[in-house]
Amino acid sequence: MAKKSRLDFMKMKEKGEPVAWITAYDFPTASFAEQAGMDMILVGDSLGMVLLGYKGTVPVTMEECIICCNAVRRGAPNTFCIGDMPFMSYQISDEDAVYNAGRFLKEADMDAVKLEGGRRVITRIKAIADAGMLVMGHIGLTPQSSGVLGGFKAQGRDPKSAKDLILDARAIEEAGAFALLLEAVPPELTEFIAKDLSIPVYSIGAGAPCDGQLLICGDMLGLFQAFTPKFVKKYANVAEVEINAFKAFVEDVKTGKFPEDQHCYHILPETAEEYQKMLDELKRK
Ligand code: KIV
Repeated sequence: MAKKSRLDFMKMKEKGEPVAWITAYDFPTASFAEQAGMDMILVGDSLGMVLLGYKGTVPVTMEECIICCNAVRRGAPNTFCIGDMPFMSYQISDEDAVYNAGRFLKEADMDAVKLEGGRRVITRIKAIADAGMLVMGHIGLTPQSSGVLGGFKAQGRDPKSAKDLILDARAIEEAGAFALLLEAVPPELTEFIAKDLSIPVYSIGAGAPCDGQLLICGDMLGLFQAFTPKFVKKYANVAEVEINAFKAFVEDVKTGKFPEDQHCYHILPETAEEYQKMLDELKRK
């Protein structure tokens, strides 16, 4: 299947066809996602928690993101991929934001970048878009600023904060973003924003009435064990499968059941005699 483009995502919004996407950080997951027909992939800075075991996303570096983006691109050459801009890659200046967004495209062949925040980062979004790059906005629960939000908490549940998010969404579209991601907000607000904007509006934990759904691979596969947000549907329990496989291996090794003859490389039959002679000769007395 050909890689989808920004125009395909616009058409899907017009037709009411939802986009299905997940996060991926490595070659096998990206390859499986492409084989499964995923519309797009986010190389989220959630890689810090899901893959690297950090407590949050703040420590994630550009270098870690670029390594993961390259692995994902190799696994999913025909899927629209978005690189997630890590904390401090765009906070300081518009110049930094453009430079680091460019790294995702030049060094890791990403199709777009995503960054967190509304009106407070609007000049960053505009600068990246003006430099000719596709940029996605991300508002609601924004994990990089979870400290300011008082934790990983749902947003937009009261009229004042909902109005702020609507104004953020409008500013993001005006600044030139090609799409917007809403995280952990009520479905009523999601529906309003999805209808209000002409660009696609996607949800992670923001309900159904919008243009597509994102889940974090570690959550939906049952790999990430620290906590499971309310909005996650678990499609598998990969952690259980892995733990059981590792336990069985430990047991087989301890009891001598592994390896078996079928797992061994054998001496070339035509050299068997000579081989044995050599071993006998080198045997310590
Ligand atoms: O890093 C990530 O996976 C994200 C999602 C939480 C939207 O930004």
